[in-house]
Amino acid sequence: MLPALDMRAAFDDVEADRYDLHSRHLNHQMVRVLKTIGFDARFTRGRGAHLWDATGGRYLDLVSGWGVFAIGRNHPHVAAALKSALDAELPNLVQMDVPPLAGLLAERLLARAPWLQKAFFANSGAEAVEAAIKFARAATGRAGIVHCQHSFHGLTYGALSAVGETLYRDGFGPVLPGFREIPFDDLAALEQALRGRDVAAFLVEPMQGKIVRPPSPDYLKQAHALCRKYGALLIADEIQTGLGRTGRFFAVEHFGVEPDLVLIAKGLSGGHVPIGVVLMRKEVFAKTFDRMDKAVVHGSTFAKNDLAMTASLATLDVIEAEKLVENAAAKGERLLAFLRGLAGTHDFVREARGLGLMLAIELGEPKALSLRAFWAMLEKMSKGLTCQLVTIPLFKDHKILVQVAGHGSRAIKLLPTLTLDDADCAWIERGFSQTLTAAGESAGPVWALGKTLIKGARAAAGG
Ligand SMILES: Cc1ncc(COP(=O)(O)O)c(C=O)c1O
Repeated sequence: MLPALDMRAAFDDVEADRYDLHSRHLNHQMVRVLKTIGFDARFTRGRGAHLWDATGGRYLDLVSGWGVFAIGRNHPHVAAALKSALDAELPNLVQMDVPPLAGLLAERLLARAPWLQKAFFANSGAEAVEAAIKFARAATGRAGIVHCQHSFHGLTYGALSAVGETLYRDGFGPVLPGFREIPFDDLAALEQALRGRDVAAFLVEPMQGKIVRPPSPDYLKQAHALCRKYGALLIADEIQTGLGRTGRFFAVEHFGVEPDLVLIAKGLSGGHVPIGVVLMRKEVFAKTFDRMDKAVVHGSTFAKNDLAMTASLATLDVIEAEKLVENAAAKGERLLAFLRGLAGTHDFVREARGLGLMLAIELGEPKALSLRAFWAMLEKMSKGLTCQLVTIPLFKDHKILVQVAGHGSRAIKLLPTLTLDDADCAWIERGFSQTLTAAGESAGPVWALGKTLIKGARAAAGG
């Protein structure tokens, strides 16, 4: 018999070489980024909201794997459920049968969106978006898909066609025909786009994830009314906002909207197994699967696999038992109030925004004359470089892992696990306050770092 693989030992054996290994065989540009900003900390363990580096240092993770660790990393309830599924020797992916666990998960999810009756499983967020585009086109017999500027829906071709940031599309064209981009939170633009009655669906994030932008209070409701008026479907992409992230199970609940299709992915399976889901009205589903010979007209081999279903069922248990939706609302309120306070007291914090535990602060030009020239120089190098003046000391001095929101953005985004406790909130408050205070002093360490970044950027540009 083969000796059992000890994955901790396998990890420990190679972990010190991870950057070389990755540069050789995977994404060398990612390694350059990490080394440039000093994020090459060699993480060795993760649990809950925290990560540990090779020297045992504990970090607070405000990226949470881009939102997949909503219930925290390596939750024991999910791990135990996965082990139990493996031990049970389940008849996984028979294909010429229907999987019971998929039925159970569909029922649990649809109970959260009682106006919808059908679920479709996929293997990622982007795959859920692809499926929703196909379902909407088949249901309406129309090709048009309206989406928003600054939107993000994934990087496969259908999803990419609906992404409102050119960085992701440049060099990969042509994308799919029939897609139309409008400004977010602009009902007049939406009506204009729908008026030709050739639009299958308006695909929208209830709160824009890349730039952390919540809508005006009645935007989504009015948008849905416009969709109905012109015979289009409303698709809410809740891949980032769903499962409690904004302090409600679905973000649309804040706005009293019942979309025709709702997309989920990311946090659903506790971060262990890829998954994507489309929840929809039964009439929409029926138009795609409208004949017996079309029973497999859309799908994917691994979708509905028992491990994804198991991890998701266990994750829903955790969200309910640990009251994570309520926790996201309470901790989100505390942190938003704190971040808004920063905007009032720190020179170059322009504003704070967000909902639940999806938050951002936006930086802007400092008022102090002594800092302005420096700011301008950094901005000239690269819009958003100034944000790194905050994220780097947060990481190095306060062990807080946080990201710049979107490309070329001046916003710093907080997307923590929904399990944050009061000590984690205090950690954030201390780290941000001290870092931004230091950034307000022209001779402070933050601006010394700025000089290093400028030198680095010049060297990289060969200048
Ligand atoms: C709103 C939204 N939609 C879709 C996606 C794509 O999901 P995935 O990366 O699983 O393909 C993302 C990922 O960040 C997202 O935030």
